[in-house]
Amino acid sequence: MKIAVVGTGYVGLVVGACLAETGNNVLCVDKDQAKVRALKRGRIPIFEPGLTELVQRNQHEGRLEFTTQLPKAIISSQIIFIAVGTPQGEDGSADLQHVLAVASDVGRHMDGYKVIVNKSTVPVGTAAKVRRLIGAETTHPFSVVSNPEFLKQGAAVDDFMKPDRVVIGAEDQSGADLMESLYRPFTRTGAPIMIMDCASAELCKYAANALLATRISFMNEIANVCELFGADVDRVRQGVGSDRRIGTSFLFPGVGYGGSCFPKDVKALVRFSADKKYDFQVLKAVEAVNERQKRVLVDKMQAHFKSLKGKTIAVWGLAFKPKTDDMREAPAIPIVQSLLKHGAKVQAYDPEAQRVAREIFGDRIKYAAKSYDALKNADGLVIVTEWQEFREPDFPKMRKLMRGTVIFDGRNIYEPAQMKAHGFTYHSIGR
Ligand SMILES: NC(=O)c1ccc[n+]([C@@H]2O[C@H](COP(=O)([O-])OP(=O)(O)OC[C@H]3O[C@@H](n4cnc5c(N)ncnc54)[C@H](O)[C@@H]3O)[C@@H](O)[C@H]2O)c1
Repeated sequence: MKIAVVGTGYVGLVVGACLAETGNNVLCVDKDQAKVRALKRGRIPIFEPGLTELVQRNQHEGRLEFTTQLPKAIISSQIIFIAVGTPQGEDGSADLQHVLAVASDVGRHMDGYKVIVNKSTVPVGTAAKVRRLIGAETTHPFSVVSNPEFLKQGAAVDDFMKPDRVVIGAEDQSGADLMESLYRPFTRTGAPIMIMDCASAELCKYAANALLATRISFMNEIANVCELFGADVDRVRQGVGSDRRIGTSFLFPGVGYGGSCFPKDVKALVRFSADKKYDFQVLKAVEAVNERQKRVLVDKMQAHFKSLKGKTIAVWGLAFKPKTDDMREAPAIPIVQSLLKHGAKVQAYDPEAQRVAREIFGDRIKYAAKSYDALKNADGLVIVTEWQEFREPDFPKMRKLMRGTVIFDGRNIYEPAQMKAHGFTYHSIGR
């Protein structure tokens, strides 16, 4: 099939490359000229495991191309995916300006029947809005489909190739049929393709992210209670997660959730519910708990050092989670900012996010080329992102490099007894 994907960010680029991989001809469109120039040369602007090889292979085979010319892409494609950003607006709502601008352009330039697919995460009712906008611009027939994306950054290619399920909101049979055939190669092992109305499909995405965020905030509260009673949140997590009704995923306490999705999607769901006069109380608490949790590590550091002024703090991990360079809403941002505000010097290391971090912190912090370089003469180490390479470090070497002996582990990656044996004072979450 001939496909256009508008927006080549973390979602659009993965969607485009994966659809090309199954033999479709995909034209990826972005308004960011520098990004398109780089992509045309086979350079991938983001870090996502497996994506570079996938893009380059399909480019080489001539199935994947990049352009800034939206009209050209619309005319040459049967299916048009909208995968542009829907950032948080000032009032917490999802900012739809990019989605709606693309929809109008599609209507203006289409030259025959097209299926327009909302891939971006959009509030309930957006498919209807998109339909109205396109209808105002064209007399050609078209279908609007809502197809939320559930991929995880850091495992995006795998998630798209082997989805747990595919959700398709469709208001007519031809749109639903075309989407089903497009996704069939990805669901051969039995993952369901779920066809439903657009409003339900749109809400699936928010409900999924909000539920995952709720589990995180819930476990962070349990961790805080564990600390008050001398319980071990790891034991509690295992005891709870082994219940099949609950399951083991997303029960790890930490420094609060971040990233480009959970924070904005939780806010948007609260907001569009409020538009219908519904007070989403659970999610308001989830957000408040998350904001508080981002301060927990710095509170522990202040309690330990009494004053952070003049202290040198090593930070391991800046990305909002491992295997990505994305720092959107990363807990590392408020943690580093708070350290700086309290007069500490920060020496940070992240395997992938350092370029992005430089755009945020500039030269207010030092960037280490290797994890151990960040430890030189540090009074303490803070672990913010649980990259694999931090899990089994050379502890004696760390002791030698650091001036102090204290570790604040925001991801519980070490065993307290092991740390004591290595001579560290060790603070973690809920243990
Ligand atoms: N990042 C994730 O893990 C994830 C997962 C599932 C769903 N989503 C949703 O997918 C959508 C995209 O997210 P993302 O993380 O890929 O965003 P992103 O910011 O990485 O990428 C968006 C891209 O769209 C481009 N763009 C914006 N307006 C455009 C226009 N008018 N024409 C052409 N290009 C335009 C931007 O230049 C940018 O390259 C959002 O709605 C997000 O909530 C994201």
